[in-house]
This record gives sequence, C-alpha cells and structure tokens, in this order.
Amino acid sequence: MNDAQTITVQVVGIEQVTPLIKHFKLAPVAGGSLPVFSGGSHIIVVMQRTDRVHKNPYSLLSSPSQLDAYEIGVRRMEESRGGSHFMHDAVKVGSRLEIAHPVNLFALDKIARKHVLIAGGIGITPFLAQLEDLHDGSVPYELHYSVRSAEHAAFLERLRRREGDKIHMYYDDAGLTIPYQELLAAQPLGTHVYVCGPAGMIKHVIGTAQTWGWPDSHIHWEQFSAPPVGDAFEVFLARSKVSVHVPPDQSLLESIEAAGVEVPYLCRGGVCGFCHTKVLELDGELVHNDHFLSEAEKAKGKSIMPCVSRAQGKRLVLDL
Ligand code: FES
Repeated sequence: MNDAQTITVQVVGIEQVTPLIKHFKLAPVAGGSLPVFSGGSHIIVVMQRTDRVHKNPYSLLSSPSQLDAYEIGVRRMEESRGGSHFMHDAVKVGSRLEIAHPVNLFALDKIARKHVLIAGGIGITPFLAQLEDLHDGSVPYELHYSVRSAEHAAFLERLRRREGDKIHMYYDDAGLTIPYQELLAAQPLGTHVYVCGPAGMIKHVIGTAQTWGWPDSHIHWEQFSAPPVGDAFEVFLARSKVSVHVPPDQSLLESIEAAGVEVPYLCRGGVCGFCHTKVLELDGELVHNDHFLSEAEKAKGKSIMPCVSRAQGKRLVLDL
C-alpha cells in the first residue's frame, strides 16, 4: 500500500462518546461514495503533523451499506506517540485527512453455524460493523461486551437499540466478568468465536477455546498494537544505502518512510505480516511487539515487523 491509494476525506462529525473515546464521521471531499467494505474492515488514517506523519489503523464501525461516510472510534492512549492525541486534540469538524482503502483482516466466517463475539473496551468497534452483516438473521449470534464501568461503554445505546437481548454487558466496577469457561464450553458445533480487546482478554479467549478443543480456524481475534515508544536507535538500510535515526516516539516503519524508503504494509499494527523485513546484521537485540512472528522466529532474530517492533543496541542492518 502506498500514499497514491489514499482518499481525501473531511471530518463531518465528532462526538465524545466516553471519557476516552471520540467518534469521528469522515465523508469524501470529492463527494459520492466511499469504497465498499465488509464488517471487520479497518482503514489507515494519515495524520499530517507539522513535524511528522502518523498512520494509524482504525476499525470501521459504520454500516457497510452506508458509504456516504465512514465512522471510526479513537481511544485516547495514555502512552501515545501522538497519533491518538492528534485525533483528539487537533482534528476538528471540517479538518481534512487522508485515509487508505479499507482492508478486512477480521472478517466473519461465511460458513459458521453461529457467531460468538467478545469485545473489551474500544474493541467493540469492528463488531458494530459486523453486526450489520448479521442482521439478516440467518445465522445466530451473541455479543459479550466488557467495560470498566457504565461511562466507558461506548456505543451502548446504539447496540441496545439494534441488538436487544443479544448483547450481554459486563462492568468491571460491578465485579462482572465474561464467563469464558461456560461460554466456550457449551457452543454448538460449527460456532466461531471472535475477540477484540486488550491483549490479556485475547490471550484468555484463545487459551480457553483451545482447552475446550476449538479448532484454531474457528478462533478469530484482532488487536492492533499501537507502536510502543522506546529508546532511540540507528538502522542501516542495505539495499537503499540509507542510514536512519529512529527517535523514541516514532516507529521504525515511520522513520524508514520519512527517509523516503517504502515498505509494504496493510495493518500497521503487527498483525498482517505485510511489513515483514529481513534482518541482515544485528549487534544488540530486537524488541518484538507484533502478533505475527512465532516465538521461535522472534528468538532467531532474523526478521522484524517494523510497524510495531524496535531494536536496542549498537547496530541493525535491514534488507531494504
Ligand atoms: S503492517 Fe501489518 S504487520 Fe506490519
């Protein structure tokens, strides 16, 4: 993916839906319709700051049948490199942004006999669009949504209106937790489970489902990691013959792009594998933050996902 494929949109609505989450509506500046997408898709939003560019992935939460505007939810991250703060503080109604075409890495399985959807916090966003795809009623489904407290339950009114008793709420401050064992032990054959939320929740759902013998192909999860901050380091791109400085608050991928070298990407969140890059030399260690490489591949130190991972040490040479 590169910037030639972006679409210019204008922010036509902003609503603060919880103390931490803002809801944005983005309409095409050129008018007409935005590209078709299916529930579970995300877009990359390009945020042009004066000193640098952020490109962050956000799930589309609007109905796939509504293409006059896309809707996204952005959580203000406490330890942000600036992307979520930029969206919260600098973007106003009328602001223009570039977005990439939607990509779906979290699609509903077409032959599932039932769908169990599990969301934690901002992880509700891909499910809002998926639920639109489930409304024809041909496949049963249920949604389990866990939040810190009632004030953090983003989009609950919309969900209650549309989903009625298919939505099950769990509030941390009331001591309510999703009964994972019960839920995953007793589902009809052919059920698929989908989870989006904090890393601990995803790990727990995957582990519990595997314990109960769910096939891996029936367990779906999505978690875009925001590239974490870290120590500054230097990298040499062997094919391009360019040295790049990676500051603490910029990802390796963003720093390489700022140096004029393109790296393929889809998710920018450590999930899709598109940015996979060979490590040619390393004096130090890699800080892997992706969900794509296996533990064995991470230990070998021969590959890195520059969208979210970093390095520590004296020398890193990449095959770029
Ligand atoms: S762009 Fe998807 S893993 Fe890096």
